[in-house]
Amino acid sequence: MKIFLDTANLESIKKFNDMGLLDGITTNPTLLSREQGDPAEAMREITKIIDGDVSLEVVSTEYSGMMEEGRNLRKYGENVVVKVPMTADGLRACKTLTSEDIPVNVTLVFSVNQALLAAKSGARYVSPFIGRLDDIGEDGMQLIEDIDEVFSNYDFETEILVASVRHPMHVIEAAKIGADVVTLPPAVLEKMLHHPLTDIGLANFLADWKKKSSS
Ligand code: G3P
Repeated sequence: MKIFLDTANLESIKKFNDMGLLDGITTNPTLLSREQGDPAEAMREITKIIDGDVSLEVVSTEYSGMMEEGRNLRKYGENVVVKVPMTADGLRACKTLTSEDIPVNVTLVFSVNQALLAAKSGARYVSPFIGRLDDIGEDGMQLIEDIDEVFSNYDFETEILVASVRHPMHVIEAAKIGADVVTLPPAVLEKMLHHPLTDIGLANFLADWKKKSSS
């Protein structure tokens, strides 16, 4: 399973990339708006740091605007994947950008049918938002299972990118299903590093070593 970081925070990106954990990055307008400085600079910098796909999202809602933005975003780097919303215009842009060899991530996906249509349009990634489904009392992970089952019946190359991940259990469940990618907020990836028995075990090793060396 590939791990993407869901952030525009350069410090977090560098930290986890230096640990060899990152296969890519996803951003969105909300994540970029949380960071200081020029978003264009941040996007350019991220594409340079990461040796993998970097999703950058359009903010236009109609086809021609999406196309113009998508082509411009792609100029930031060869690893840019253009993120478009799951709308009729978004799918039209997905088809055209894909035909120009610009890969597309279709975002804001909340149903199997939307995922199926995004795959038909040639998306490289489809991004179901599981946390937001959980938030309204639906089962986000069931959606991942269902999309996985449908995609496995056919020859789609579209990858399932599990988004809106809220906690480490989401990651385990997505991995058990065999989802292609999870995109994680830095806080979730940080939590995955830790276990209390690791901390206790390390403290004991160091205390025993100190005792021995001072005896
Ligand atoms: O990748 C999509 C993600 O950023 C949305 O997450 O937590 O705002 O639902 P959230």
